[in-house]
Amino acid sequence: MNEHESEKLAALLSDKGYIKTDDDDICDVIVFNTCCIRENAEQRALGNIGALKKLKEKKPELIIAVGGCMPQQEGKSEVFKKSYPYVDIVFGTHNLEGFGLLLDKKLSQNKKIFEITKEPLHNFDVIRPLRNSYPNAWINVMQGCNNFCTYCIVPYVRGRERSRSIENIVAEARLAVMTGYKEITLLGQNVNSFGNDLNGKENFSMLLRRLSDIKGDYRLRFMSNHPKDLTEDLLYAMKDNEHCCRQIHLPVQSGSDRVLKLMNRKYTRSDFLKKVDIIRKIIPDCAVSTDIMIGFPTETEEDFCDTLDLVKTVGFSSAFTFVYSRRKGTVADKMDGQIPEDVKKDRITRLVDTQNEISRAYARGYVGKTVRVLCEDRDKKRGYYLGRDEYGFMGYFESDKNVIGEFKDVFINKTEGVSLIGEEVK
Ligand code: 5AD
Ligand code: SF4
Repeated sequence: MNEHESEKLAALLSDKGYIKTDDDDICDVIVFNTCCIRENAEQRALGNIGALKKLKEKKPELIIAVGGCMPQQEGKSEVFKKSYPYVDIVFGTHNLEGFGLLLDKKLSQNKKIFEITKEPLHNFDVIRPLRNSYPNAWINVMQGCNNFCTYCIVPYVRGRERSRSIENIVAEARLAVMTGYKEITLLGQNVNSFGNDLNGKENFSMLLRRLSDIKGDYRLRFMSNHPKDLTEDLLYAMKDNEHCCRQIHLPVQSGSDRVLKLMNRKYTRSDFLKKVDIIRKIIPDCAVSTDIMIGFPTETEEDFCDTLDLVKTVGFSSAFTFVYSRRKGTVADKMDGQIPEDVKKDRITRLVDTQNEISRAYARGYVGKTVRVLCEDRDKKRGYYLGRDEYGFMGYFESDKNVIGEFKDVFINKTEGVSLIGEEVK
């Protein structure tokens, strides 16, 4: 989501004639698009902003802007006023579209700008992004979240769910395919709640069905999904759309009913397992990936073992694993029973080891088979091209010409961890 919003900020700068550079000596504007979902994301951003103090002293005309979720948090803009006085423009999540104007204002008035609007002003359709992730095109389908999971800051910094119109999403996707993008990834905090704010007239399954009208050689992915909103109708729409990858990202967060309740996730362990069964009934080969968090307040060893057990029971193809991070203003931040760091460290290590073993076993199952990957990059160090298959596994292979953006059949002869290593079938 943030990566895509950076593509929109890049478009606003490009409209003003700026071009991208990695060179500190020649750059005129530096924009930080921040995330505050976990403390380490914030610390990293603050570290990078702090590192610019010297450059600003050397180049006082340089404009430094900080936007996104971090300044949108209650009271956070004060931190920039006090501790980072050399930052010129501070703008919130809801002010992205107006960034061009803020920059004009800064250039004409030369005073510090703080623009953090409380209510969403988002209009998805006003900025066409300057895409930076070929062959993938990110497409935003909705903004915000209504779920208020007790650990999560997203509803506070991104507001309530707002869905975009199906017509505009389809038009953007059609343009992306027509202009050569080979993968469309639909984005939203909860893509499968899409349409809930549109009087129930439109929903995510309808969107997938409408998108299937777009012809061409491309893949369709979407993320993230909330288990409570995963319907059979959506799975059938996925199955019926030949472009949809056979992978669904379904964050579980915990395998303990007690913790799920405290997290306000609105499903039980058994509800989640039933959803996985339904996925596998309707799309038998579908890979299920997830997000899991350890160290939520009061999480006991028994709760954690329930999570490990769920991980083994489901057999996720891959998982993003997180250590719970206290976020100011959330319900969980005020809970008693915060978990000590050493316990969190031990649990995350055990969780990662367990999931790695499962993902590696999936990867080993590929040896001796041919997979079709969409080549998305080149690993310069190892000299391999790399691309994902439709289940989300990464295949590496050699090629004497640039094949980024091409679908390639790769015969897998070995694995390294979860990476599939093979050779192109010609
Ligand atoms: N601490 C740790 N992880 C978090 N996530 C959301 N909020 C927090 C937090 N406070 C994780 C969840 C979510 C993913 C995008 O980030 O697992 O699914
Ligand atoms: Fe955060 Fe929960 Fe909303 Fe996901 S569903 S963005 S974890 S509040």
